[in-house]
Amino acid sequence: MHLTLSPFLVGLAGAMATKRQATGEHAMGFIGCSMAENVAQGYVASGGKHMWGPYGTGGLVVQSWTNTNSASWGMFDKQVAKYGKPSEVWVQICIFQNPGATYDEVKQLIANARQHAAPGAKIWITGQPIYPDNPSSCFLAGAQGPQLTVDLAKKAGYDAALNVTYPGDFKLMRGEVQDGCHANTAGQGSLGKQALAFWG
Ligand SMILES: *[C@@H]1O[C@H](CO)[C@@H](O)[C@H](O)[C@H]1NC(C)=O
Repeated sequence: MHLTLSPFLVGLAGAMATKRQATGEHAMGFIGCSMAENVAQGYVASGGKHMWGPYGTGGLVVQSWTNTNSASWGMFDKQVAKYGKPSEVWVQICIFQNPGATYDEVKQLIANARQHAAPGAKIWITGQPIYPDNPSSCFLAGAQGPQLTVDLAKKAGYDAALNVTYPGDFKLMRGEVQDGCHANTAGQGSLGKQALAFWG
């Protein structure tokens, strides 16, 4: 009998072992701005199905999400009406240079996410993407802005009282950016793969 597994099957088994346990389609919601939309665009293009696709979050920085009754949360709730209350929510901290964001605002976003999600939902938190080979690239967030959002996300992740998980940085390299901030097609693809690595 021939028991050798083909490299293809071994690779497949490996990929499945690292894949998330519960891959409910569209069971994961997200909030954020156009930078979250860039991630969602690439995620869907890469075949991601667990998280929602893009739903028009352009310009929706932190202050668009601090009021749980805002128009932004109304858009989120329309997604909920379509897919059900998400069992996971990704909170992306996205800012304009002015006013930036405070930790209190971040905590408010997390509280609101819990309110709009299923009971006991897992909350993920990240900053907006950073630009490792051109850190001051994103004029909208300001030279220090992307790193500030990452620092806020990490702080929340370390804060046991918040019970949220920081999965890592999103990164955009020089050739993956179209206007200093936003991902071009290659950048969307890269962000989508980073999201797949975090969330399946
Ligand atoms: C923390 O979040 C997890 C989901 O990520 C949930 O199952 C758990 O009940 C939460 N713990 C507390 C103390 O709220």
